[in-house]
Amino acid sequence: MSIKDLRVNGKRLQESLEAMGKIGATPGGGVQRLALSDEDKEARDLFCSWLKEIDCEVTIDEMGNIFGRRPGKNRDLPVVMSGSHVDSQPKGGRFDGILGVMGPLEVLRTLHENNVETERDIVIVDWTNEEGSRFAPAMVSSGVWVGKLELDWAYNRTDINGKTQGEELERIGYKGDAPAKAFPIHANYELHIEQGPMLEAEGKTIGAPKGVLCLHWYDIYLTGTANQVGPTPMAGRNDCLLAAAEMIQTVNKVAHIKGDMVATVGELHNYPNSRNIIPDGVHFTVDIRSWEDEHALGAWDLMETEFQTIADRHGTPIKMETTWRVERAPFNDALVNNVLDASEELGYSSLYMVSGAGHDCSYINQIAPAAMIFVPSKGGRSHVEVEESSWDDCEKGANVLLQCMLKSANEV
Ligand code: GLV
Ligand code: MN
Ligand code: MN
Repeated sequence: MSIKDLRVNGKRLQESLEAMGKIGATPGGGVQRLALSDEDKEARDLFCSWLKEIDCEVTIDEMGNIFGRRPGKNRDLPVVMSGSHVDSQPKGGRFDGILGVMGPLEVLRTLHENNVETERDIVIVDWTNEEGSRFAPAMVSSGVWVGKLELDWAYNRTDINGKTQGEELERIGYKGDAPAKAFPIHANYELHIEQGPMLEAEGKTIGAPKGVLCLHWYDIYLTGTANQVGPTPMAGRNDCLLAAAEMIQTVNKVAHIKGDMVATVGELHNYPNSRNIIPDGVHFTVDIRSWEDEHALGAWDLMETEFQTIADRHGTPIKMETTWRVERAPFNDALVNNVLDASEELGYSSLYMVSGAGHDCSYINQIAPAAMIFVPSKGGRSHVEVEESSWDDCEKGANVLLQCMLKSANEV
């Protein structure tokens, strides 16, 4: 059989995704597998055991990234890599990230059972803490791996309970010995659900993004004056939740005025959070994304100026931090074309598009040729328990991945 005729086993892919979906399953049909939680550890253990079943060399690095390597004929050549993440959002879905780990696993199982040899080694990977929900920022471990983020800085990131990422890596037994440092990559493909409505709206099966939007994260801290709500007159209050409310409106307004961008406040902490105390502490986040980095930076300039004016008017001192910025990632044209060509050869419709969601592939793209393969998200919903993609589409995405990986892995 020609390798062009090779296909993944869709049923086995479904079973792997269903087994992973049980780890951290939520009553609403999703999963909660926060980075470095017990559930994350359980999913990692299962992934490692599956890698060993097909004789992959398993390596864990200092950031807990898990690599499974399948030897090729020329072990010195730069490898072909594919991976995503097993961690999830709080009350997240059963497909985000995990499809991009189970997909390449299914590719390797297919190669294994058909005794297919490739010229280059193939490496599949689970990147630690892609979501950035428990420990900010997102994509932190691929960021360290490509040399864009510092290892010690990453270790010291804390969750809301004050636990550090380094401590939690150690606690779950995934602080490995291998340096979190990139090795040469010939091609990197990431399979993922679209997480948006475009493929469904256009009636297409495979998305080939030309790249990922830039992602800019900010943290805002306000300090007010706490007091008993009853006796304290309305005039002269320093209510920092009220100030934050105006700032949230500003974020939305600026995104609308500037256009070609999205801006969101998704996390807010109010202190002491009692109905009869005027709030004296607020922490909230701002997420800004656009295809143009300069456009996103311009929006932040406007927000920053307006936040300061609002804070001054309410007498609530403000601290604004730039937590993380990752530039937009324009993917490698040749690899994007491989995705489009493989879709066509397999008889699947495709769409050339843009990714609004962030992915580890953004960082890998900074040091190696990279591209992504999207499959439709039902109703365009993601980061929610009802997130769903059809098993058929997952299988098709994995077949595109198989053909792209084979093509790149046999280039010498
Ligand atoms: C990652 O999930 C992101 O797009 O924020
Ligand atoms: Mn993801
Ligand atoms: Mn996600």
